[in-house]
Parts: sequence; C-alpha cells; structure tokens
Amino acid sequence: MKKNKSSKNWIIHQHRDQYFKQARTSGFRSRSAYKLLELDKKFKLFKNCKIAIDLGSYPGGWSQILKKNLKYSKILSIDIKKMEKIDGVEFLCCDFLKDETKEKILKKLNNKADLLVSDMAADTTGSKDLDCIRTNALCAEVVEFSSHVIKENGVVIAKLFNGKDFLNVKNLAEKKFHKVNFFKPESSRDYSKETYIHCAGIKTL
Ligand SMILES: C[S@@+](CC[C@H](N)C(=O)[O-])C[C@H]1O[C@@H](n2cnc3c(N)ncnc32)[C@H](O)[C@@H]1O
Repeated sequence: MKKNKSSKNWIIHQHRDQYFKQARTSGFRSRSAYKLLELDKKFKLFKNCKIAIDLGSYPGGWSQILKKNLKYSKILSIDIKKMEKIDGVEFLCCDFLKDETKEKILKKLNNKADLLVSDMAADTTGSKDLDCIRTNALCAEVVEFSSHVIKENGVVIAKLFNGKDFLNVKNLAEKKFHKVNFFKPESSRDYSKETYIHCAGIKTL
C-alpha cells in the first residue's frame, strides 16, 4: 500500500521518538506511559493511593503504570475505545461525556477515589483550534466531575492544551481546588501545546 506524505512523516517521527522506542522495549502500550511516570515524580501521585480512575485509558499505557505502582489498589479505567485486558484493572468502554458513564463510575466504587487521572484527547479534526477547544472541554468536564468522585484530599491530573479555553479551565479549577498547577512532561513532544493540570485540595462549601 502506498503511504501518503503525512503518514510517512508520522512514521519517521515515531521512529525518532526515544520514548516511543523505550515504550516498545519496556512492554508499555503507549509512550504516554512515561508522561504519567514524570507526573508521579513531580506530584507523588501514587503515595497512599487506594482507588484510582484512569479516563481515556486506551491503549493502556497509563493503566499499566497504575497497576505496576499500585499493586493492591482498585483501578477503574474508562475509554470510548475498547482496551485490551490488563490484570487487576477494571475497564468500562463508555463515553465519559455521557451522564450514564459518570453514574456507572460512581456505582463501581465503594468509596471515593484518591486519584483521578485523565489523558483524554478529542479525535483530531484538522483544525488545531477546534481540537484544542474539544480536548479542553473534556478537561473541564473532568474537573467538574472530580468533586463528586474524589476524596477531599484526592488529586486530579488531566490533559489540556495551552490554547483556546485554557484560561476558562484554569479558572474553573481554581474555583474548585485550593492548589492548581500545570506541568508539561519532557516526554510530551516539545512542539505540542499539551500540558497537564494538577488539582489538589477540594474547596468545600
Ligand atoms: C492520548 S489517548 C490516551 C492514551 C493512554 N493514556 C495510554 O497511556 O495508553 C486519548 C484517549 O482518550 C479517549 N477519549 C477521547 N474522548 C473520550 C470520551 N469522551 N470518553 C472516553 N474516552 C475518550 C480516546 O479514545 C483515546 O483513547
């Protein structure tokens, strides 16, 4: 099959990408796995974590890292795409934007979660602005949902883009949490506007 120029560039890029190669040799399903490791190094996410939720888990790199580091914890992963089984990880194939998914998540947990991580990204459309708006809307939805699903001292990590609607998400997070930080892992490509929001300390009414 003849490959077009952009798919060739993509392949070249992937081959150059050290994290992509590293992920393959380590058996991680995605290069994103390294982003979660860096986020943990920065924010100590796994310390005392008994219940973790992984939103946008497919193909499973972050869920693998969670399982590896939280051997005895409950891990619930959600994606709109079907993720291959990971032992010790419960998976729901659902659209996070639907109310029924949020209800399912709440039902699955006996207690509130210590950690809610989201690497969700909307499918690319060809318009960078639209992709940014859609991914940042997912992030806003995660921040909104977090107050229902995490413990008072729980932590949220979610992907967002430093572009359109970034400030709206930041303002929303600051209304809900005492601590809001941003961190771009080294394993995130330099040219991408991707970053991660870290929220801790829910503000109670
Ligand atoms: C960058 S990938 C996640 C990679 C994953 N963290 C890993 O390490 O393997 C983003 C994921 O977000 C998922 N996603 C996007 N919108 C979603 C939605 N509304 N509900 C659930 N998952 C969604 C996509 O299906 C995609 O698998």
